Amino acid sequence: MRLLVTGGAGFIGANFVHSTLARRPGTSITVLDALTYAGSRESLADVVGQIRLVQGDVTDAPLVGELVAELNPERDAVVHFAAETHVDNSLADPEPFLRSNVIGTYTVLEAVRARQVRLHHVSTDEVYGELALDDPQRFTETTPYSPSSPYSSTKAAADLLVRSWVRSYGVRATISNCSNNYGPYQHVEKFIPRQITNLLTGRRAKLYGSGANVRDWIHVDDHNSAVWQIMAGGQLGRTYLIGAEGERDNRTVLRTILRLMDFDPDDFDHVADRPGHDLRYAIDPSALRDELGWQPEHHDFEAGLRATIDWYRTHESWWAPLKDAAEARYAELGR
Ligand code: NAD
Ligand code: DAU
Repeated sequence: MRLLVTGGAGFIGANFVHSTLARRPGTSITVLDALTYAGSRESLADVVGQIRLVQGDVTDAPLVGELVAELNPERDAVVHFAAETHVDNSLADPEPFLRSNVIGTYTVLEAVRARQVRLHHVSTDEVYGELALDDPQRFTETTPYSPSSPYSSTKAAADLLVRSWVRSYGVRATISNCSNNYGPYQHVEKFIPRQITNLLTGRRAKLYGSGANVRDWIHVDDHNSAVWQIMAGGQLGRTYLIGAEGERDNRTVLRTILRLMDFDPDDFDHVADRPGHDLRYAIDPSALRDELGWQPEHHDFEAGLRATIDWYRTHESWWAPLKDAAEARYAELGR
């Protein structure tokens, strides 16, 4: 089987490439990635001899068309991870999000339509907006879309494009909307790696607002095993929600990181809150579990955090070149 993996030099895409090569030997992978500030050749350095890495943009229709034309519609697929992904960046400058997330997905859709190639589109639970802390309902595939930020609204737009290309043009696609991932190779602008690398560089940990906001954490390998399960057995045209019952408030996660790194759990800074900050995300993963038999393998969040901290401790050369620039962006935002 051949896969075209867009965004395969980013956090989840690079982990997808690693786990696919390890668990499904014989899969041939082409990565298409623009290598923006969020993508890195280094994330694929140890598999560089086993894949093809094409540096290019998902909005480049001739290039995307050429790469999709190499695939066999009978057995190959495109897995579309490429996107601008950080909410704070989208609030500061939405334009790249419209280009990469909306026009990029449109470009991929037109290429798979022309060649009748199977597509899996990777999306986020943020398209559903926020839940109240005490809401007994969690997000399901029928929850109405209600995105809050330029990031989540461009992801919502991309999902709707996929749905309409399925219905109107018969494109063979599935969509997954996953909750917050953690694990190795995540950019230091994101919550968990930012705190770990702040502490490793003598900076202080930073909590937005009161820290009561809840995220539903899943290990990146569990996200990617669910993507494979959907590609193998998912119903075409369907949306599947991916989550691992990992709800935790930010303050608790931050205090756990501090404790695991031998700091006083209350030794952090409260900083200005994110405008429009979604209060709570929570996924009901029962459809994926009941219909496709998927189960997460990482049940112990604290053990997963400890392993993630160890990874950042031992991979300073991967993240150190990114750290000062990320913190300079936060300093401009007062966070
Ligand atoms: P990331 O920011 O770490 O990586 C994104 C990758 O896409 C980078 O390698 C970047 O270079 C590439 N890219 C960006 N714009 C591009 C363009 N125009 N052309 C080609 N490549 C481009 O993101 P991530 O966290 O790995 O997220 C991957 C996907 O998963 C995204 O679609 C995101 O919306 C979705 N998602 C992420 C999470 C999460 O918790 N991180 C959760 C659910 C869904
Ligand atoms: O839910 C899935 C989404 O998860 C993905 O679609 C996004 O691509 C991904 O970035 C993530 O979005 P969040 O906005 O939830 O993630 P982030 O890591 O930016 O922040 C997680 C929470 O932590 C959020 O409530 C804001 C807060 N936060 C973040 C940073 C960077 C802090 O308290 N301090 C910080 O320094």
